[in-house]
Amino acid sequence: MVNNSNNLPILQRGAPVLAQVAHTIEDIHSSEIKKLINSLKVTMANASGVGIAAPQVGVSLRVFLMESAPSERYPNAPLFPLTVLINPSIIKTSNQQELGWEGCLSVKGKRAQVLRHTSIDVNYFDETGKEHHRTLNGFIARIFQHELDHLDGITFIERLSHETDAISEQQWREQTAES
Ligand code: NI
Repeated sequence: MVNNSNNLPILQRGAPVLAQVAHTIEDIHSSEIKKLINSLKVTMANASGVGIAAPQVGVSLRVFLMESAPSERYPNAPLFPLTVLINPSIIKTSNQQELGWEGCLSVKGKRAQVLRHTSIDVNYFDETGKEHHRTLNGFIARIFQHELDHLDGITFIERLSHETDAISEQQWREQTAES
């Protein structure tokens, strides 16, 4: 179990900060950013998330974390080590898009099929200030697009044609167990 001292409450959709465009981080090495990243790590681990963005803990700054491994929330998730992504951006997207199931720590108890680019070329800085260019595919590309949306004030619910396209976690469990 991780140390709970830095665990932060996760805001739910409807909180104003989740609808705002977050600010670019100017000083990656500041103690404020170090503390924020540490809190995000603890909070994401405690919530068993595959990603968390700063606005979800009430901080309107452009940073999110990703970490993927099979779990109860995402049984078929591929392995992707814990990564901190600061001032991230998408450089190029595949023409191909695909539907896939998503949930969100800020939209508790809901799942929906969301259309995302299958492959994306991205750019970001890590917590040491090093710049990265990489290509992400499939579920990992999906997480990146979902988290980047949080930095632009968008949750997966806004990506749906109708809010009612989202189903309950319970219904999702039944559906995915059948298929
Ligand atoms: Ni989310």
